[in-house]
Amino acid sequence: MSAGARPLTAIVLAAGEGTRMKSAVPKVLHPLCGRPMVLHVLDAVGSLPLDRVVVVVGHGAERVSKTLAENADAPVPVESVLQAQQRGTGDAMAVALTVIPEDFSDDDDVLVVPGDTPLLRADTLRAMVDLHRSSGAAATVLTAVVPDATGYGRIVRDRDGRVDRIVEHRDASEAELAINEINTSIYCFRRALLAPALRRITPDNSQGEYYLTDAVAFLRQAGHRVDAVIAPDCIEAGGINDRAQLAAAEAEVRRRINDHWMREGVTMVDPEHTYIDVSVVLGRDIRLWPGVHLQGRTTVGDRSEIGPDCRLVDTVVGEDASVTYSIARDCDIGNGANVGPYASLRPGTTLGSGAKVGTFVETKNADIRAGAKVPHLAYVGDAEIGERANLGAGTITANYDGTHKHRTIVGPSVRTGSNTVLVAPIVIGEGSYTGAGAVVTRDVPPRSLAKGVPAKIVEGWASERGADDEHH
Ligand code: UD1
Ligand code: CA
Repeated sequence: MSAGARPLTAIVLAAGEGTRMKSAVPKVLHPLCGRPMVLHVLDAVGSLPLDRVVVVVGHGAERVSKTLAENADAPVPVESVLQAQQRGTGDAMAVALTVIPEDFSDDDDVLVVPGDTPLLRADTLRAMVDLHRSSGAAATVLTAVVPDATGYGRIVRDRDGRVDRIVEHRDASEAELAINEINTSIYCFRRALLAPALRRITPDNSQGEYYLTDAVAFLRQAGHRVDAVIAPDCIEAGGINDRAQLAAAEAEVRRRINDHWMREGVTMVDPEHTYIDVSVVLGRDIRLWPGVHLQGRTTVGDRSEIGPDCRLVDTVVGEDASVTYSIARDCDIGNGANVGPYASLRPGTTLGSGAKVGTFVETKNADIRAGAKVPHLAYVGDAEIGERANLGAGTITANYDGTHKHRTIVGPSVRTGSNTVLVAPIVIGEGSYTGAGAVVTRDVPPRSLAKGVPAKIVEGWASERGADDEHH
């Protein structure tokens, strides 16, 4: 329990199917900037002084619970409770309360947040909880004034301007539909007063569901006070119901992330075309060109320059590096290293400081040491390329014999000629050379030259084949 304050339990409603997403993935697991929707909600909720966090799961319950267990970053453990049948938000709340012990005190509060409002800010929640506590209301509803209220529950106020009840869009009269103050589905309730109100809810409405919104009217009828806080920015209230809303919300999350990093000293040539996951960490004086996607656990060090058009996933980029028109996944790009244009760095690629992987080069499970260069048209797989080595254009490691992968070790300061084939397993000793077109099948000692592929000449082959062709 948080010291001094009234006990607070957060309940996140995330059992709904999200029919309008038309997806095999539960709605709340659709990601925005690399983080599932429900975790954005939990990130905001988790910044409050909470005693418990309970998430109501239903559709895709196992996947949702697993995602929460593995990725939630809350100050208290996140508990899941199963709502086996989605009978409405009121029923979801009743299910949530079953896991909260009955020994609550009179001043216990529950904060309710839907799992599909990823733009909700921690400050907004905090302001609402503070007001709820200082006013002593039985319930406090976060509302929003929106330009288009279609689909939302409307806040109906009485003659004194107090919240009287909430009416769902489908059940609203003409006059009620004209109201542009909507229910965000974010509330604070006095736990002791909520439970009896929930018991009064019936599925007597157009959807045949138990509406949590009806608890507001019951509390008012019982003579309790219900307050509303209008969200300072109505964008925060947006519930995601379909993929168009998902894209719009993701654009907002992206704007927030980009604003944050620009304020931290990152230059973005075009922030609207710069795509950074929530989990990415950036240094200072970085320059990002348009079309850059930094994803997963990617980090970029000071003064590095990325883009245009790059996708880096779970990749560490050091300081003063440059990556352009390239892709990397699970890689480590060292200080001052140079990648691209048009390089594909596959998992397990490490570039030492000042190393270069240039145009039309593919690497995989490759340790390219400091100062080594693979400037053009190469494949380097299951290999170690020594310091200051230079692979000529068209050099490839033939690492796969059709059954097994084999390792290539190229010593420091080796220079391979154009179109060298290194047939693994193989070791090229320090300071050795290969000639253009060499096909090297045996280990080369240090400071040697490996050259040639004696081509077998079949005289008259072409004319015989030509004669053959005429017959057919
Ligand atoms: C709800 C509100 C509406 C409000 C809107 C804001 C009700 C009846 N209506 O409508 O007033 O304007 O949110 O976005 O509450 N859920 C469960 N179990 C269920 C049903 C829903 O866990 O049985 C969860 C959903 O996963 C979702 C949240 O509750 O995260 C809201 O449900 P949803 O069906 O999206 O409600 P809306 O129709 O949007
Ligand atoms: Ca919704």
